Amino acid sequence: MSDWTDVAAETDLFEGAGVPVAPGGRDIALYSQGGQVFATDNLCTHGHARLCDGFLEGFEIECPFHQGRFDIRTGQATGAPCTEAVKSWPVKVEGGRVWLALD
Ligand code: FES
Repeated sequence: MSDWTDVAAETDLFEGAGVPVAPGGRDIALYSQGGQVFATDNLCTHGHARLCDGFLEGFEIECPFHQGRFDIRTGQATGAPCTEAVKSWPVKVEGGRVWLALD
């Protein structure tokens, strides 16, 4: 059974961009898309860019540095120069709050 951590209000999120949160000192980006919420590590696996500063189109987040892409549902790299996935985190929305199942 997962322990869920309250990381944000659902109203803090908006479609089309990532929102950074830092539970326990981690750097995680939340995304609201298609009525669902997703979470990945915020740091691009190609460099030192933060994905919350990127551009969200559909279910892909585009890195602001070199336009690499990741699928926000799985963390898989979907566009060069990124080849390594970012970690994705289980999310639930309950009581108007966003919860993550952290390690
Ligand atoms: Fe993200 Fe290069 S730092 S694509």
